[in-house]
Amino acid sequence: LNILTKTGTRNATAPYLYGWMFEDINHSGDGGIYGELLTNRAFDGSTVTWSALGGFSGSSITWQENTCEAYGPVITGYKPVGNTTLRLDNLHPLTYAHPTVLEVDIPTNANDSTDPVGFQNMGWWGIPVTPQTYNVSFFIYPDQVRNRAVPKTGLTVSLQSNITGEVWASVEIPAQSWNVVNWTYVTAQIVNTVTAPDTNNTLAITFDPSAAQGQTYYFDQISLFGETFKDYANGLRKDLAESIYDLKPRFLRWPGGNNIEGYSIQRRWKWWETIGPLQDRWPRPGNWEYYNTNGLGLMEFLQWTEAMEMENVLAIYAGYSLGDAGEGNADEYPATAEAMYPVLKEALDELEFCTGSTDTYWGAKRAEYGHPEPFDITFVEIGNEDWFGLDYPFRFKYLYDGLKAAYPNITYISTAYDENTLYTIDIPAGAMWDTHHYEEPNFFIERFDYWDNWQETTNNTDVTVFIGEYSVLQVNTASGIVDFTDPPDKHIFYPRLISALAEGVYLLGAERNPNVVKLSSYAPSLQNWNWYNWTPNLIAFDADPLHTVLSVSFYLQKLFNAYHGTESVEVTNAEGDFNPLYWGAAADEGSVYLKVINIGNSSVPLSVGLESAWTSVNGTIITNPDPNGYNYKNNATAITPVPLNLTSTTPSGNGSWEWNVPAYSITVLQFDL
Ligand code: AHR
Repeated sequence: LNILTKTGTRNATAPYLYGWMFEDINHSGDGGIYGELLTNRAFDGSTVTWSALGGFSGSSITWQENTCEAYGPVITGYKPVGNTTLRLDNLHPLTYAHPTVLEVDIPTNANDSTDPVGFQNMGWWGIPVTPQTYNVSFFIYPDQVRNRAVPKTGLTVSLQSNITGEVWASVEIPAQSWNVVNWTYVTAQIVNTVTAPDTNNTLAITFDPSAAQGQTYYFDQISLFGETFKDYANGLRKDLAESIYDLKPRFLRWPGGNNIEGYSIQRRWKWWETIGPLQDRWPRPGNWEYYNTNGLGLMEFLQWTEAMEMENVLAIYAGYSLGDAGEGNADEYPATAEAMYPVLKEALDELEFCTGSTDTYWGAKRAEYGHPEPFDITFVEIGNEDWFGLDYPFRFKYLYDGLKAAYPNITYISTAYDENTLYTIDIPAGAMWDTHHYEEPNFFIERFDYWDNWQETTNNTDVTVFIGEYSVLQVNTASGIVDFTDPPDKHIFYPRLISALAEGVYLLGAERNPNVVKLSSYAPSLQNWNWYNWTPNLIAFDADPLHTVLSVSFYLQKLFNAYHGTESVEVTNAEGDFNPLYWGAAADEGSVYLKVINIGNSSVPLSVGLESAWTSVNGTIITNPDPNGYNYKNNATAITPVPLNLTSTTPSGNGSWEWNVPAYSITVLQFDL
């Protein structure tokens, strides 16, 4: 390979090529990156089950509305402490958005024992207990009818082992006369100095039985946060966010995916129900079969991108909802301007909330909620995967025209192009097309050159591309057709080395076409092992930060993004065509980067030369003898990027360099000029 740093053609690379896709799937948000450590904090409904044996069970996927009847004696995520009865109550709503609360009944004979009474929350399949300060909060309301006098009771809030009951740390909330005509909001901090041996821990809220005997209390919005990413209140789980930040994604696509669309119009992601005080946010049954608290709401997404210096790719509702067996078929706003006006208006209001000055109604609301500075919205995607809907061209154009008139500087993204024969869609100049690929390795490898002449052959010279969701979903099959049917485990569980090799080849093809492919994001990105709908994902995790698995595909993204360069650099090759080797080069002010992927099962001798003299070179490689190898829970570092050993062959000056590219490898070289 000869890297033409002096004479070759240069194009600016696509600055936002590597980004991150997020939607709440696989408990990636609630029970995932959202920093709330307690499950079912507001009794909204949940699929997390707690087994009577005291263990955690995430496997039962039950859809249940949050009524007392449906829950029976077990309240998801909770168990009583001592002589206490727990119920769900709908007669003492905290807010309109949260009508169901926890009733804690302490019987009159509770003081027969000195054991504390109250309840425990089991966390999202456990709670990590490490030295740090935890923030606890909840609403409490004593029952003024059943409690004969104004109760004057203290509380203890503790982190404790679910196995032995050992208390790791606690805080006393002093005895006080609780407000008997309304809810009282309580906050406290637990300063913990120990590391629990595992995450099978609970948060217990308990009373002294002699003070509380015969009383009834209601609780809601019971919350526990540990340290969050960059210390944002109501922020992100620190360790997971740090892993994402480490990849330095250039944008975040949010909040879906299917999860924006809802099962019905009524149940779609409504941005205005996800802002403001948590007790006023409406939860919703997400599209991925569990309740979303909306604690990770619009403002938190904006703060996420602010904290990680990412652009926003904001997905807005396009009028389609997906329907499900219980709710009937897909639900949609009719495709007329009259019917779609509310959909346009809600998107305009959303953009005003995000970007408007504090002189605007929604900009002022944003300031009221703590962020007077407007956020930037660079991209707006209209809908999700709408290639099936015959009237998407109308919906897209209607929303595009309405939004573009008000926000001309935003780049708009269509979720469909002419990829099927249902319709043709006119994507306006300057707008983008979001395409999704869940495929086999061969699909990606064969499409290395797919984008080379895409604009010319499709007569779309003014449309650019967002590869908004992609992953190697299953291994190569004879048919080459990805099987989405049940059982879903035809999907591979973890990304494999072959996944990263194939995705890498496809990404090299994207990098070679920076005028066409502007954005890309793997999907889905996060998976909680205890409850998931979809594999593979970039990162898999549970409650224990020490268990997190960064996949080979994650490392590919990280490497490719880190060595992206600002200009692509031409490479000539006297040694043969692509396959099994694929490559691409880029440069920035002081360095030239060469990426080489070998998808073959044997090493390939390669001579590398650079037109410019260089002062030093270093390399990083991801490789493994078995292309089906992967990182997994008990061996999270089976395949990671390692420095390339250049000692015996270190090139210098501007001579060429002979190098054996290992089988099944992804290599990045950095030449410092
Ligand atoms: O990434 C999982 C799902 O795949 C997304 O929600 C949807 O857009 C696609 O079908």
